[in-house]
Amino acid sequence: MLNARTIDDLARWFRASARDLPWRGPIGSPRDPWAVLVSETMLQQTQVSRIAERFPLFMRRFPTPGALAAADQREVLALWAGLGYYRRARNLHAAARLIVERFGGAVPRTVDDLLELPGVGRYTAGAVASIAFGDAAPIVDGNTARVLLRVHGRATRPDDRAARAWLWDHAARIAAAGARGVGAGVVNEAVMELGATVCLPAPAAPRCDACPLAPACAARRTGTQARIPLPKGRAARQTVHCASAVLVDGAGRIVLQRRAEGGMWAGLWQAPTVERADRAPTRAELARALGLAARDLHARGTFTHATTHRLVRFDVYRGAAPRRWPRGAHAGDTDRARVRPDQLDAFALSSAQRRVLRLALGGALSARRERAAAAPVAKAATYARS
Ligand code: ADE
Repeated sequence: MLNARTIDDLARWFRASARDLPWRGPIGSPRDPWAVLVSETMLQQTQVSRIAERFPLFMRRFPTPGALAAADQREVLALWAGLGYYRRARNLHAAARLIVERFGGAVPRTVDDLLELPGVGRYTAGAVASIAFGDAAPIVDGNTARVLLRVHGRATRPDDRAARAWLWDHAARIAAAGARGVGAGVVNEAVMELGATVCLPAPAAPRCDACPLAPACAARRTGTQARIPLPKGRAARQTVHCASAVLVDGAGRIVLQRRAEGGMWAGLWQAPTVERADRAPTRAELARALGLAARDLHARGTFTHATTHRLVRFDVYRGAAPRRWPRGAHAGDTDRARVRPDQLDAFALSSAQRRVLRLALGGALSARRERAAAAPVAKAATYARS
């Protein structure tokens, strides 16, 4: 949590560095709630430079909710031209009419009343309540979420449910701390401004040298700014640890097993593999699963394969296939086969498993064969049951 001193540093920075924008007067001075509602509505999904140009024209024509409420929609949309997302203009028009009908023409003061207005969500309600009325109302948007997640070193997606709950809770505490000192609106807008101008999203580099929160920032301390927040829509990937044994018999045939239906790489063929979620399976564990002696498995290398949802780390071993499988060594397999390298084309192998084979067998597998092996052609394959 940002403490009182950090909040003061932030407010001092904001007073010194805030962009001169047409909807802002001197920082901390009273603000017209209507101007705040209009500007915050325009600022959703549109660049500041565009709004800086449009906002004065719009406010000159519609200086109050009453003026907008009385206007014809075509004129409203014409004045919105260039800002895009015209639904916002229609909503603002409807909000102005509701403000006139229900609130006597004055923008309501509380978050609950503001949330009644068309197009006003939790963010806009919080921005108006705090910036215009000094209410300790929280705000969370993309910019503020990035600032808070970085300061606290939380490498999550901002749209993750738990992260959102944490962000709103944290924003409420910051607004409350602001309300006790520099003002809730000042601190809220300062966090927004910091996100918009200093704590920039990747791939741009954040300007940590200019940041008043740098001494308190966990991401800066650990050099993880570029990784926080995680990109939206992509969950933190789970890591799976695999150990694979590429076993070759005296006739040069490779042992393959077919994965179970369901789960990762369902039904595809692979070198016999043991998986764990918590750590890499040991050579002894892999050997035991296959009914072999650990000393007969030789490490050939390691790599990590990334799928959409997982990072799969492989330890690859090579060994001699036994003439016969010891009793019990088939447990859990749905199918197993001994396959000559020139027969691999007939087996559907994941790209990770092609890499496993390549690592263990080196030049024994041609690139052409590896490519062909990706095709799911299992028909008429003649191979020995293993
Ligand atoms: N983005 C949205 N509203 C903002 C504000 N009031 N100041 C800075 N950036 C913003």
